[in-house]
Order: sequence, then structure tokens, then C-alpha cells
Amino acid sequence: MKKYTLAILLCGVIANAGNFSPSMQGYIAALKSEAKQADSSFVDFNAKRGEKIFTTKHIGKSGDSISCTSCHGSNLTKNGQNPTTNKIIKPLGPSVNKSRLTDIKEVQKWLRRNFKDVYNREGTALEKGDVLYYIQSK
Ligand code: HEC
Repeated sequence: MKKYTLAILLCGVIANAGNFSPSMQGYIAALKSEAKQADSSFVDFNAKRGEKIFTTKHIGKSGDSISCTSCHGSNLTKNGQNPTTNKIIKPLGPSVNKSRLTDIKEVQKWLRRNFKDVYNREGTALEKGDVLYYIQSK
């Protein structure tokens, strides 16, 4: 009986991060332990907080007031567009774009670059985790 309870609990934990592609699981786990180190009261990332990070405007690297939505749009199942170059950006939402949030290197590279674009600094582990939960939910 005890073994069953443990198995069910473990399934719950895995299912929680289970929305992410297998290749992303390790990265999410690493961000979690980093967030826990920065703040021992950390429990989990939160898509709602991620939405705020994604939609809030800030004076970015170029001195203009922008947000993540400036390029990715506010509907992540639709194409976005870079407002400066007019280049079309395919949807970020994994529900419509299966290649999203599958390649850790790609995700890390763009989070680093895009946080600098918008917030003029790199994101913290907490911010990156929150925003990834938000994107993953779309
Ligand atoms: C100046 C335009 C711009 C802004 C602002 C921007 N992005 Fe991006 N983002 C891009 C481009 C261009 C790519 C790479 C092209 C692509 O993957 O379609 C990209 C790719 C990404 C990816 C890679 C996803 C994957 O798995 O392929 C993530 C994650 C991401 N952006 C998150 C964010 C977040 C979070 C913010 C706000 C902090 C943000 N972006 C703001 C232009 C932008």
C-alpha cells in the first residue's frame, strides 16, 4: 500500500513538469534548483507570473518601451512580427508549433537575448521558469 502511495505521488510530481518535452525536463529541473538556492521559500514556477513578465512593458536595450508581446504578439498561437525589421516570427505556443521549447540551447540563447531586449538584463532563474510555464501553457 505504501509503495502505491509513493508511486502515485511520484507520478504527480512528474506529471507536473510533464507538459514539457523530455529534452526540456532537465533544464526546468536546473532552473528550479537555482531558484530554490536564491530563495529557500521557492516552491514552483507559475504561469500567471510568467504572463505578467511576458506582457509588461519596459524600457529595453534600444531605449524604447517594449515587451515580449512587441515581437511575439499577445496570442501565442498566432504569428508574431518584429516591429523594427517586420520579420514574421512563427507562433511560440507549443500547441500549434511543435518545435517550440524542445531545444534547450535554442531556448537559452533566445531567453538571454530577449530578456536583454526587453529588460536590459538577463532573466533570473525564477523569471525564466515562470515565463517558460506561461509559454508551455499556450
Ligand atoms: C525584438 C523582438 C523580440 C522580443 C522583444 C522578444 N523576442 Fe523572443 N524571439 C524573437 C526571435 C526573432 C526569436 C527566434 C526566431 C524564432 O524562433 O522564430 C525568438 C525566440 C524566442 C524563444 C525560443 C522558443 C523556441 O523554443 O524556439 C523564446 C522562449 C522566446 N523568444 C521568449 C521571449 C521572451 C520571454 C521575451 C520577453 C522577455 C521575448 N521572447 C521577447 C524575437 C523577440
